[in-house]
Amino acid sequence: MSLIVDEPIEEYAERHTTAPEALLEELAAETKATMASPQMLTGRIEGRLLELLVAGTGARRVLEIGTFTGYSALSMAAALPPDGRIDTLDNEPKHAEVAQRYFDRSPDGGKITLHLGPALETIETLEGEFDFVFIDADKENYDAYFEAVLPRLSERGLIAIDNTLWSGRVLDPPDETTKTIATLNDKLAADERVAVVQLTVRDGVTLIRRR
Ligand SMILES: C[S@@+](CC[C@H](N)C(=O)[O-])C[C@H]1O[C@@H](n2cnc3c(N)ncnc32)[C@H](O)[C@@H]1O
Repeated sequence: MSLIVDEPIEEYAERHTTAPEALLEELAAETKATMASPQMLTGRIEGRLLELLVAGTGARRVLEIGTFTGYSALSMAAALPPDGRIDTLDNEPKHAEVAQRYFDRSPDGGKITLHLGPALETIETLEGEFDFVFIDADKENYDAYFEAVLPRLSERGLIAIDNTLWSGRVLDPPDETTKTIATLNDKLAADERVAVVQLTVRDGVTLIRRR
């Protein structure tokens, strides 16, 4: 993943974002040392953004599609009230093992349920509405995830979709994955069911609410 904004600006933004808790720092370090694609971890800026969005919207029920090693789930869990909960979905046992180990050590870990399996199938097994949904798994299924969760958003609910600028490649898609993301971005911008903002945070984050 290459940075969308200039590196000095990104570093400045990081320095002016509240530092992560020690447990998150440890998780990020382990992920970097042991995982094949550590850049998938959301990290300091986006983690804080997610925490602030969950806190600001007063969300109680969160759905995360794409747990990886658990950084974003723990970031969001920190902003939930004691009876709030997150269902986080991943299909890779190696990722789930690391994530669950950190959830077990966190004071907020009891709010998180990790579901192992293909996300589209898991979503169907979950009951009720979601106040906040973070979509951050396989890009080929992004549109299917969006369509699956949109009818299940609570009245003031928000969806955040990650990697929607895909290192800037959406401007001139060189491959099928980028085309899929660019097509979804075009669809969302024209979709009368929703209001959308495309943020240039990290690799691009799209925020969506129902109209
Ligand atoms: C970009 S990472 C998620 C990063 C995470 N949100 C974080 O902040 O660290 C994407 C994750 O989606 C998972 N994934 C990919 N395809 C999936 C699918 N069809 N169902 C469930 N999980 C999937 C991968 O195993 C990977 O852990």
